[in-house]
Amino acid sequence: MRRAIYPGSFDPVTNGHLDIIERGCKLFDEIIIAILVNPDKQPFFSIDERREMLGAVLKTIERGTCVIQVDHFQGLLVHYALAQKADAIVRGIRAISDYEYELQMALMNRRLEPSIETVFMMPAETYSYVSSRLVKEVFQLGGELKGLVPPLVEARMRDKLASD
Ligand SMILES: Nc1ncnc2c1ncn2[C@@H]1O[C@H](COP(=O)(O)OP(=O)(O)OP(=O)(O)O)[C@@H](O)[C@H]1O
Ligand SMILES: [Mg+2]
Repeated sequence: MRRAIYPGSFDPVTNGHLDIIERGCKLFDEIIIAILVNPDKQPFFSIDERREMLGAVLKTIERGTCVIQVDHFQGLLVHYALAQKADAIVRGIRAISDYEYELQMALMNRRLEPSIETVFMMPAETYSYVSSRLVKEVFQLGGELKGLVPPLVEARMRDKLASD
């Protein structure tokens, strides 16, 4: 039984995240998508909204026999991973620009908790420039998001903007 944690903000979930989750499903029996609660950051979507969207869009992905759960956590990732009895942390690398930060985090996490490995996965090239931040920026300026986020996420973003 191999269990991985895929941590992130998922504000909102993008097709890039889903690509990494699908790839992770080929390696792990169970993946816990763990939304990091960051009290210092002003999010676009609340934790509950992000959890709900993830739950809905995860129904549409290719998961084989992999069990996928959605959770949220605060504090040190390795403490959370240990509490969940996870074997690994999954992270995505889009470009060299991600590498430096991810390497630093992976090595610090290894120092804090040597029993947990970090596994890096590369997305399809189509998603190599997709980030939640850029998706929000493009959306707020009126750009088209088709193919970058699931249709449900785009609809939720439209609802959110209309309600503000
Ligand atoms: N398009 C993508 N392809 C591969 N990995 C990705 C992609 N988007 C995010 N990831 C990875 O998913 C993990 C969680 O990322 P995070 O929640 O920060 O998403 P993000 O899109 O980078 O959001 P933000 O723009 O707010 O930083 C990180 O390891 C990140 O590198
Ligand atoms: Mg990021």
